[in-house]
This record gives sequence, C-alpha cells and structure tokens, in this order.
Amino acid sequence: MRILGIETSCDETAAAVVENGVEVLSHTVASSLAEHEKYGGIIPEIASRRQLESIQAVVALALDAAGLNLSQIDAIAVTREPGLIGSLLVGISFANALSFALGKPLIRVNHIEAHLYAAFLIAKEQGRKEDMPRLPAVGLVVSGGHSSLFAVERFKKFRIIGQTRDDAAGEAFDKVARLLNLGYPGGPVIDRLAREFPQPGITFTAAKLPGSLDFSFSGVKTAVLYYKRQKERDAGFSVGSVAAAFQDCVVRSLVEKTILACGQTGFQTIIVGGGVAANSALRAALTREAQQRGIKIYFPALPFCMDNAAMIAGLAHRLYSANN
Ligand code: KG4
Ligand code: ZN
Repeated sequence: MRILGIETSCDETAAAVVENGVEVLSHTVASSLAEHEKYGGIIPEIASRRQLESIQAVVALALDAAGLNLSQIDAIAVTREPGLIGSLLVGISFANALSFALGKPLIRVNHIEAHLYAAFLIAKEQGRKEDMPRLPAVGLVVSGGHSSLFAVERFKKFRIIGQTRDDAAGEAFDKVARLLNLGYPGGPVIDRLAREFPQPGITFTAAKLPGSLDFSFSGVKTAVLYYKRQKERDAGFSVGSVAAAFQDCVVRSLVEKTILACGQTGFQTIIVGGGVAANSALRAALTREAQQRGIKIYFPALPFCMDNAAMIAGLAHRLYSANN
C-alpha cells in the first residue's frame, strides 16, 4: 500500500510517499524558516501563506521523486493536530480535496505520535534495516513544541506518562541560543558548538521532580541568563562553555527520565523522535545508558527527526491496517 503523506503543522510544507508503512519512496520538505529567523521564532501568518503557495508544488515533487502519479496512490494521510491552526488548515484542506477528488481514503494522524513512528522508517538510500523496533516501547518525543514520554503499547495506543511542566526541550535550546546570540533555531548551533567544549567546567541542574516522569527546563534557562549577566560583568564569559553546559544539563534530564520510564513500565525498548532527537550528545548518552541496561534503543535517521511527511504516511499505514 502506498500512502501520500502531507504535513504542514509549523513552518514546513512537507509531502512524502511511503510504501507499506516503512519504505520511504520520496520525501520533500519546503521550509519558510529563513523568513522567520529575524523574529527569533515562527510567525504563524507567514508560515500559512507560504504553505498555501507551495503545497501543490511540494506534493508534485514528492510524487515525481517516487516516480508515481496520483492514480498509483492508495490513500492520503495528513497531520490532524497539534500545530499552528492556519498551517494545519492548509494541509487538511488540500488533503481533503485530494481524497475526495481521487475517491481514496483520508487518514488523519497526530503529529507527536508520528514523531515516534519516525524510528520505524527506512530511507531509500539506507537499504534494508536489520533491526526494527518492537512494541511495547517507551517513547520520548523532544521537539520545539513538546517534550513527552509515552508508554506505546500499540500504534493505536500511545499513553502519556510524562511531559514538560514549562518549556519543551527544543524551545529551551532555542531560547538559550537567543540569550547567547547564537541565532534561530538554537538546537543545531548549540549541538555543533558544544562539541568543541567537552569539559565546559560549569554545571547547570534541571529541576529534579523526584519520582515524576515530568520535565522542567525553564529553570535552566533562567540559570543561564543569571550566569551570563554575572560573568559578563566579570569579563570571564565563554559562550561555548555555557552552551555545552546547558546542553549537558538537558541531556542528563532527558536520559534520567527516559531510563526511569523503562523501570516504571518494564518496557525494554526505547523509541525517540522530534527535532532534538537529532542532538548528537543525546543520541550518544541515551544509547550508552540504554545499552548498559540491555534496553534496545532506536532513533530516526536525521532527516526524519525534524518535521517531515514520511512519518505521517508511515503511521497512517499502521492506523489504517487492522490489528494495530
Ligand atoms: O520536531 P521539530 O522539527 O519541530 C517541532 O515539531 O517542534 O523540532 C524543532 C526543534 C527546534 O527547537 C530545534 O532547535 C530543535 O528541534 N533541534 C535540535 C537539534 N536540531 C533541531 N535541538 C538540539 N540539537 C539538535 N541537533
Ligand atoms: Zn514536530
């Protein structure tokens, strides 16, 4: 079964064709991110205007890259929620119209659950994947808008077991990068910079929230702000060390709660998704801690960590098929 996925929840306009829920035949993403950079965050009105202008071309590109035409598609999948309302509306209206015109089913998918599904996808250039994740699993979604832990028993049963009480992990990266004048989005810059400061010599600590699987990152952001104010006065301020110490703190918190979630659920598999799943320090630390405990861990290939439509088409296939 070939599903055309459409995703327009934030700044991106994305389309992809996925075969049988795992094989990504094509995926295309157009982003208006550069236009938002000067504002330090996404401007919804700009995002939805660009999506309206580009959606038809993006879908055509994805079909072209897969070497298919619309009549060879079996179903349409689209992001239902959550996201910017104007942006979601562009994708949903387009997908609705396509489904109606073609007489093919429309499958609506939750964006956050799809982020976790990304770990199941196989990119065309990747070839066969030996080892696929198996459910049940602990799911960690870390993106610009969400930091949540899920107990994923089936593709139709994602149960939230922990979430952020304030900032999402990606949001914290973006805000701290702004504080440090590193630009937007902050995650990739901090990730790169932190590699040059493996021993930052500063320690920030996130709120522990003992026993709970919830996260809290706003305190770390404030700690970075105070540290910056103090040290700038003392003229002893290294942006790289602060960025590395901040990242280290966020990674420690994410790793600790994810491993705790495995203990509480008894699940022996972890799947990770969302933009922050691209973070090299998180990938390394979580892999090390999971492997030490005999827990299997799966991250998406880098292009499928960020918002994309392949994850939407992939999860749609599982939701559409029986017995999931
Ligand atoms: O999943 P995503 O593309 O969009 C949302 O659904 O929010 O995530 C975007 C977020 C941004 O906050 C960005 O700073 C963060 O993911 N991000 C990273 C990295 N790459 C992207 N955070 C840390 N390290 C990275 N390498
Ligand atoms: Zn996302």
